[in-house]
Amino acid sequence: MSKVRHLIEPTDLKQQEIEEILELAEKIMEKPEDYAEACKGKLLATLFFEPSTRTRFSFEAAMLRLGGRIIGFSEPNSSAVAKGESVKDTIRTIACYSDIAVIRHPKEGVPRLASKYSDIPVINAGDGGHQHPTQTLTDLLTMKSLKKGLTKHTIGFCGDLKFGRTVHSLVKSLAGFKELSFIFISPPELKIPDYIKEELEEGSYIEISSLDTAMEKLDILYMTRIQRERFLDEGEYMRLKDSYILTNEKLQAAKKDMIIMHPLPRVNEIADEVDNDPRAVYFKQAKYGMYVRMALIIKLLEVEGK
Ligand code: CP
Repeated sequence: MSKVRHLIEPTDLKQQEIEEILELAEKIMEKPEDYAEACKGKLLATLFFEPSTRTRFSFEAAMLRLGGRIIGFSEPNSSAVAKGESVKDTIRTIACYSDIAVIRHPKEGVPRLASKYSDIPVINAGDGGHQHPTQTLTDLLTMKSLKKGLTKHTIGFCGDLKFGRTVHSLVKSLAGFKELSFIFISPPELKIPDYIKEELEEGSYIEISSLDTAMEKLDILYMTRIQRERFLDEGEYMRLKDSYILTNEKLQAAKKDMIIMHPLPRVNEIADEVDNDPRAVYFKQAKYGMYVRMALIIKLLEVEGK
């Protein structure tokens, strides 16, 4: 039997493996019936120590659409964690009952810790302000499908780039693709961390604070929420929360074929009126998330479609 694979950070997958997963997701989208029994008899466990709509439901929908079944919790106080059980004992127990586990936790590093005690694949569904690798796969599939490939784009990341784990994971992964330029747009207090920028080629990125200045240059605009739950100081959150609000008026300067992405949930950073703009693809992006998670489950469980 081959060694158990986990997905904790995007770099746990080789570039070629990422491309294979994206290709498989495209095949599943084209012919889902070929994969309807790929996970028959398999069980996926979802351990969500932090709220989620898209990640949890898309994983659960993915496993059900592959013919598998699901168990889990979205409220940790309904498990023995409320009695003080550790994450390592929780995962050891869950591994007795299931074939693959998905974990979201507010503390950075918990999914990595869990993977060390697990003899089933563990997938990081977001750990604090650190990483969110399956959102990255979602974002890559969205870009690949809607922008015809993953090279020669100028990508603007806007909002909370300090705590935004989706941005951290995605930038790390995009560093492996060629001829991309990055514009990081944030208030000075929420700049992207140095350890993420270090992944990029020198000269391939700039950092600015004005979205208006960047708008006309962008092929892809990746908006993010200013995350209240990551701030220690509520006053600082209140001061920064409306730093960027994308409106139809602001979009007048954008390219006609630019796409607007957002990992969601959004709060104020994209006005509802923008949803009707054909460049707004964030709900399509959420759907791509289910297909790419189907492909990931197939890869980690080493099962096949028809
Ligand atoms: N994008 C994302 O992680 O959304 P949820 O918090 O709803 O899972």
